[in-house]
Amino acid sequence: MGNESINWDTLGFDYIKTDKRYLAHWRNGEWEKGALTDDNQLHISEGSTALHYGQQCFEGLKAYRCKDGSINLFRPDQNALRMQRSCDRLLMPGVSIEQFIEACKEVVKANERFIPPYGTGGALYLRPFVIGVGDNIGVRTAPEFIFSVFCIPVGAYFKGGMKPHKFLISTYDRAAPQGTGAAKVGGNYAASLLPGKKAKEKGFADCIYLDPLTHTKIEEVGSANFFAITKDDKFVTPKSPSVLPGITRLSLIELAKSRLGLEVVEGDVYIDKLGDFKEAGACGTAAVITPIGGIEYQDKLNVFYSETEVGPVTQRLYNELTGIQKGDVEAPEGWIVKV
Ligand code: PLP
Ligand code: COI
Repeated sequence: MGNESINWDTLGFDYIKTDKRYLAHWRNGEWEKGALTDDNQLHISEGSTALHYGQQCFEGLKAYRCKDGSINLFRPDQNALRMQRSCDRLLMPGVSIEQFIEACKEVVKANERFIPPYGTGGALYLRPFVIGVGDNIGVRTAPEFIFSVFCIPVGAYFKGGMKPHKFLISTYDRAAPQGTGAAKVGGNYAASLLPGKKAKEKGFADCIYLDPLTHTKIEEVGSANFFAITKDDKFVTPKSPSVLPGITRLSLIELAKSRLGLEVVEGDVYIDKLGDFKEAGACGTAAVITPIGGIEYQDKLNVFYSETEVGPVTQRLYNELTGIQKGDVEAPEGWIVKV
């Protein structure tokens, strides 16, 4: 069955109910095998720790339709490993890499008609998650857990996609210095809702958070990592215990070195040194590469390459990354898993 109801060219990042999702329970000390289901509603105890104490984590990865009709998953092993680390941080049982990838593949196959065609720029976004469920009320780890993966066809996360966007430096923090910033857990995103709303009301795409200890260094966007290109052609990206270690960020670090021949610096990115950069961007699975045209800090807008045009280094990184994802550019060993 095709999918005549979807206009692939105008897809944004909105919930669409697709045909099947994967669901597995953890009971009696282990994950059960899991199966696909049509039902997109979860029936869980009112005492579930996921509802009260934020005991939950999630992932985001995409499946891409290639020119030859095959389907690519991009570095799903990295998402599986990160979900294991998030589970460890919140005392939840980790899902094996094998079960994670198998669940993703099953969901993609069962929803093949929702994969945006090659050339539309869209992809099938997969949302794996683990939640603490079961009857409970004290602040403790849950007696049972659910691992599920659903999927949605998506286009650009930030409206307009590959064009420069303006971001606002937030006066709020999304995570604590030794908190859960490096884990992909819902609490970080709950904390980002109000600052994000305020930034959007002022006309910005989103906000950028500073380090929660000193508020002098850029950390990340609420939904993506930050990178910049210095005037002497170095690829710079923040490194901090409260930043989410993004898989797009990791991939760009490797591509900047191996394909663009740039020196890479992972470290402190001081907010009063924005003038060192000729280009900047936000990077993530949903955001892909979203060029940053300007950053407002203390009522002053710092413009990078241009407020309207994409810088050449950002464009080359984008071409390399997205070319690999949709199978047009040779991928480094192990990056692509065929469905
Ligand atoms: N930082 C935050 C807070 C995110 O939500 C995301 C998105 O997943 C990223 C960074 C980028 O991570 P990735 O490239 O693995 O999608
Ligand atoms: C992703 O890029 O996968 C994200 O999780 C970002 C956002 C949708 C929360």
